[in-house]
Amino acid sequence: MTGQLRHMLRDDDLNHEEQKQVLELGMKFRENRFYKQPFAGPQAVAVLFDKPSTRTRSSFSIGVAELGGYPLVIDKSGSQLGRGEPVADTARVLTRMAYGIVWRTFGQDRVEEMAKYATCPVVNALTDDFHPCQVLADFLTIAQFRGGVDALAGKTIAYVGDAANNMANSYLLAGAVAGMHVRVAGPYGYLPRKDIVADAERIAAENGGSILVTTDPREAVADADCIFTDTWVSMGEEAEYAIRSKPFWDYQVNDELMALAKPDALFQHCLPAYRGKEVTESVIDGPQSVVWDEAENRLHAQKALLTWLVGQQRGDESLLA
Ligand code: CP
Ligand code: NVA
Repeated sequence: MTGQLRHMLRDDDLNHEEQKQVLELGMKFRENRFYKQPFAGPQAVAVLFDKPSTRTRSSFSIGVAELGGYPLVIDKSGSQLGRGEPVADTARVLTRMAYGIVWRTFGQDRVEEMAKYATCPVVNALTDDFHPCQVLADFLTIAQFRGGVDALAGKTIAYVGDAANNMANSYLLAGAVAGMHVRVAGPYGYLPRKDIVADAERIAAENGGSILVTTDPREAVADADCIFTDTWVSMGEEAEYAIRSKPFWDYQVNDELMALAKPDALFQHCLPAYRGKEVTESVIDGPQSVVWDEAENRLHAQKALLTWLVGQQRGDESLLA
């Protein structure tokens, strides 16, 4: 195969077969932490943060090291990006030194700009619009508990809460790519953008899945295989805390809502979680919750993604499986 520079900026940057390849690779990394070492040298991967993080920071730092590489972690406060250096110039510099760039930032346009000027893979580690690495880990968790990657297509997943945020958007796109039946429920004013729903519907149709966007949380979770939620106040929205405390109460994931899903439905939350708000303690700390496996799977899924992306760039098929 010839090398091709690929990025992961939004969930539909991988097609159905490619998403499966990455998840299969993730299953291999679950079995053997040192399955592949594409960054042996060590080669550096730059991991940039414009927003706080615990899981993403630790999973990329540890993950790059386990891939044989050197994670160069840079915070906004310690970089010239934080003082207004153009994204394009940052990309031109980092790409001369690093073998991959991972970035958590605000606008989706910023990761797109980084990718435009980088000659190494760029990975979105959360923007206001998408969190694709998280959803790869979430799907790996379903594969882990429900009979492997082939079992994903045809499953029904439901996301309940702030349906206009990055997690909702990523479930829509990634679920569509996987051929799942994706249901998203949130209150009026907190529903996904039309263009994202349209993209998800088109992709779902290609892969045998479907999309439902509703204001009724009960309709969304009915008979679902997995229930997801997320904070009602995402990073950068802290000033809206008071306004956002009101519209979401009907969307809390509690025992009553869980009871409408399949009896063995899984519960996942990207974390950090706010018990007593978007989810009750009884659910997140209960028997159907797999949130700690989900958090661990960030490590395996991202190592798989980085390995796959550099495999594509190098034209090295041994890194794709
Ligand atoms: N889920 C997630 O991305 O967590 P962090 O914000 O801690 O990285
Ligand atoms: N929607 C949340 C996800 C955190 C991992 C946020 O953007 O803050």
